Amino acid sequence: MTVSLELRDDGEPGDPVYRRIAESIAEGIASGRLGVGDRLPTHRALARQLGVAVPTVSRAYREAEQRGLISSTVGRGTFVSGIPTLRARHDRGAGERPHVDLSVNGSSRGEHEQLLREALVAAAAEPDLGALLSYASDVGEQLHRESAAAWLSRSGVAVAPERVVLCNGGQHALLVAMGALLRPGDVLLTDELTFPGAKSAALVLGAHVVGVEMDGEGMVPAALEAACAGATPPVALYCMPNAHNPTAITLPARRREAIVEIARRYDLQIIEDDVFGLLVPDDERGIPLAALAPERTLLISSLSKTLTPGLRWGAVTGPAQLTDRLGALVRATILNPAPMAAGIADRWLTDGTAARLLTWQHGEMEARFATARRLFGDCSAVRAVRTAGLHAWLDLHETWTPAAVVDVAERLGIAIAPTSFFHADPASATRPGARGVRLCLGNAPDHPTLTAALAALAEALDRGPTWTAGSGV
Ligand SMILES: Cc1ncc(COP(=O)(O)O)c(C=O)c1O
Repeated sequence: MTVSLELRDDGEPGDPVYRRIAESIAEGIASGRLGVGDRLPTHRALARQLGVAVPTVSRAYREAEQRGLISSTVGRGTFVSGIPTLRARHDRGAGERPHVDLSVNGSSRGEHEQLLREALVAAAAEPDLGALLSYASDVGEQLHRESAAAWLSRSGVAVAPERVVLCNGGQHALLVAMGALLRPGDVLLTDELTFPGAKSAALVLGAHVVGVEMDGEGMVPAALEAACAGATPPVALYCMPNAHNPTAITLPARRREAIVEIARRYDLQIIEDDVFGLLVPDDERGIPLAALAPERTLLISSLSKTLTPGLRWGAVTGPAQLTDRLGALVRATILNPAPMAAGIADRWLTDGTAARLLTWQHGEMEARFATARRLFGDCSAVRAVRTAGLHAWLDLHETWTPAAVVDVAERLGIAIAPTSFFHADPASATRPGARGVRLCLGNAPDHPTLTAALAALAEALDRGPTWTAGSGV
């Protein structure tokens, strides 16, 4: 299907038409109206539709292509390839409706700010403060790698500090891990709904992302096997076995074993993203794939979800023979993790603050999850509510499309990421597993604000898709 485009008229005064067209494409992707793989009109058709000259459209498409938003293939057409950002949804002016942002998967805040203040004061009193002013080792300082290895052991991954590579956040760790495994043109398998940041990283490396079918228990092993046996053998699999983003599924033990067995048979490398892992209660969290298949798994961790994203602390660990390559990728991208942030993270990991904040986050999220389950549990629009990590997934009945839910929420002043953000590839959008929306419950400023927003949304969904918003929250 070819999507239609409108010309934006809210740009800078004097913006040339070609730039306004390119901006319309960017805005369409950011709002979820345009999804990866959507076909854009031909140059001639769009020129006719907008009443502009054909070279203007050609120039606009060229600009959009340079910005990584679209790609053209001779004989096939022009397609959306851009990875969405949430930019447009944050651009609200003053005086607009109160805004509850459930589109960003952020952690809740308790005494974080006070603890940061104390950590900064303590760091300032250190006699070797000057160390923070220098370049550091690409893989991270030895002491910091030790505290990272101890933190990873909490989720069941026993690893020597020498095998831990520190990064500036989980997203950076992902890029480093993918960079170690993938070459341009390689196929990376992911769940059919996946973390958009993983798609971005794969895209800049020139890899092709192919989604694998999911059901209520996560990735379907038979579908994974079929993808491995296809014409282009995949090189790696990216997955989130704990608290999958966006569906909140935690893979049961037998699925983990089946995935590892298939990976071994087809010599598939695994990138296991466990940034939410420690938020899953111990008795529900599964054995990490990195423990089941240490010879082929790169494990990604981060403190963004468990503690706070501002530290930009991430780590990647895997088979010993890859450590040097991971270090080289850190060097090539950032030289070394920022010493100031790494120092504060290390302090929190070693003095018990991290463990305390994690326990607090567990309690806070459990309360928020209970509210979501209570409010959506018998909402007529919702087939099932799943909660894990920092988010909830509402599985929708056929009467509602994910896009209609996002629209209704928007009119209530609640931001939700369009589900199209998470589609691994165009085929993923059509599968039944994609009929849902993600609510980032951790990101609401407090529990009462969240409760008001969820109650308003549940009531609106209960009334049916023709409902129009009365008042915001
Ligand atoms: C599954 C997943 N992996 C990685 C990241 C990146 O996290 P970080 O803030 O550590 O870069 C996110 C952030 O939303 C995520 O959801």
